[in-house]
Amino acid sequence: MAVSWRNALQEGRWNNMQLGVPSKMPQLPKQTYRIAAVATLVIVGLLGLSYSKSDMRRPNDEPWMDKSGAEVRILDNAHAFENADDFLPHFRNVTSLKPMLMRQAKSTCTWTADDDVDFNFGESSGWFLDLRWVTKDMSDKELSPWRSQWQYAVNNKFVPWSEAAGNFEGRGIVIVGGNGKSLKRMKVLLRQLKRLGTRLPVEVHYFDFELPSEAQAELKEVYPSILFNDLAGSHNIKETRFNPMFGVHFQLKTAAMVNSRFAEPLLLDSDNIPVIDPEELYESDTYKEYGTIFWPDIARTRMNNPIWPITNTRCRMDEFEQESGQILVNKRKFFYHLQLAAWYMDSEENEGRFQSWMLGDKDCYRFAWHALKTKYGRPSRWVTSVGTSNDDGSYCGHTFAQHHPDDGRVAFMHGGLLKTIPEPVIKMQLEEHGGVFQAYKRSPFDHEFTELTSTTIGFDNFDYFKDKPEGILPASCTHFSKVKARPLDEIAPGFQETFKEIGGYWMLEETADD
Ligand SMILES: *[C@@H]1O[C@H](CO)[C@@H](O)[C@H](O)[C@H]1NC(C)=O
Repeated sequence: MAVSWRNALQEGRWNNMQLGVPSKMPQLPKQTYRIAAVATLVIVGLLGLSYSKSDMRRPNDEPWMDKSGAEVRILDNAHAFENADDFLPHFRNVTSLKPMLMRQAKSTCTWTADDDVDFNFGESSGWFLDLRWVTKDMSDKELSPWRSQWQYAVNNKFVPWSEAAGNFEGRGIVIVGGNGKSLKRMKVLLRQLKRLGTRLPVEVHYFDFELPSEAQAELKEVYPSILFNDLAGSHNIKETRFNPMFGVHFQLKTAAMVNSRFAEPLLLDSDNIPVIDPEELYESDTYKEYGTIFWPDIARTRMNNPIWPITNTRCRMDEFEQESGQILVNKRKFFYHLQLAAWYMDSEENEGRFQSWMLGDKDCYRFAWHALKTKYGRPSRWVTSVGTSNDDGSYCGHTFAQHHPDDGRVAFMHGGLLKTIPEPVIKMQLEEHGGVFQAYKRSPFDHEFTELTSTTIGFDNFDYFKDKPEGILPASCTHFSKVKARPLDEIAPGFQETFKEIGGYWMLEETADD
């Protein structure tokens, strides 16, 4: 069971499962919709203003209290500490806070069923994840032990920075990968890094048997300054053990971040292709100020998600789920924060419960930072959808363009849904339209994180494909239904060609036994 789960993740089927069930909102008459939309925008805008001022503080300026009712000071600039151990007194305060109630946590998100909010998952759509919380709020009594558990872990279970600091050095790119398709994708990514002329070394993390030495040799041939780490080895700071019940997949990326020899690891998914030299991100004002860059996804976190009260955080309307295809963290500052993110994903510790609230591992970083009352850096520009603009006027978004945090240039093309498009369709797009990187859709509100842009992930049956072969499966595509598609060359000139040059269409050359 666990093995097929992991395979599914590798093959990208997980993405289908995870994203293929868009939440349906009721359709209202157009006029009602408009009035509601304008009203919501005004309210959301006002909330947004008060939010950006108060930021991590509770919106009504209620003081933080400890369990006995005494006031506790919570720093609002903890992110400025230079060294992981500087956070320890702050953690003592953060872990002594009076537990937040579900009612309080929910109260700051005022979306209604009439708003076009994109939430992930219905109660029954998550594979192996316990999603009963979606339709029935967990009680404060049920929440409480989980809060105590992470707080106990922070105070007692983490590897001290003083013991680990000597293991880390410099900056570099971290990729978690294995054999098969993942190996093919890594090669594409490595060719692009070479093309961009980055000076950053690359470290590939794998689990046990998943990257045999022949595969390692193939990668080294493409990118000589490559290093490897077996996450199953006992030399790791955070060891990953195979759990027959839960597998290991959600643990691998967080474990790679903790164990990486780099002090400032940039984690990249193997299907994420940098468009600018990633070294530029380290020089951004955002990274210099916060020591992190977390990029946004398209869905919002439900206001009754137990993770809000469990981390003593009020629901935030200016946030999206985190898109974990690229994550940059300075471990010299955030070594304990990263250990908390990894702890959430450690199913031996918590029965996979945190995975069911964070929908896998994508949000574990954001909620580690929230739990520890530390601001994180994020780009000023929201994600842009990239995909094909089809002959029948339809659009299929298969990739997210993510941006340089300060200046908004496209920095990454993360093809999360590309793997769901069947090969005959990719072949047709390549032959008739020069590739699959044709168009983009960008929200007119892409600098206003409180604004709602209509987004869904839906199935595409390729009705525009004249010679569609029998029996091909539909793909999952992102839709920004109210936004017009524009030519991709406007924001990522030449990427269509680049993707070809770096071997992005390897799937068309695969033989049957691959
Ligand atoms: C922790 O809270 C106490 C009590 O409010 C305060 O005196 C102290 O400065 C706080 N420490 C930090 C690091 O926030």
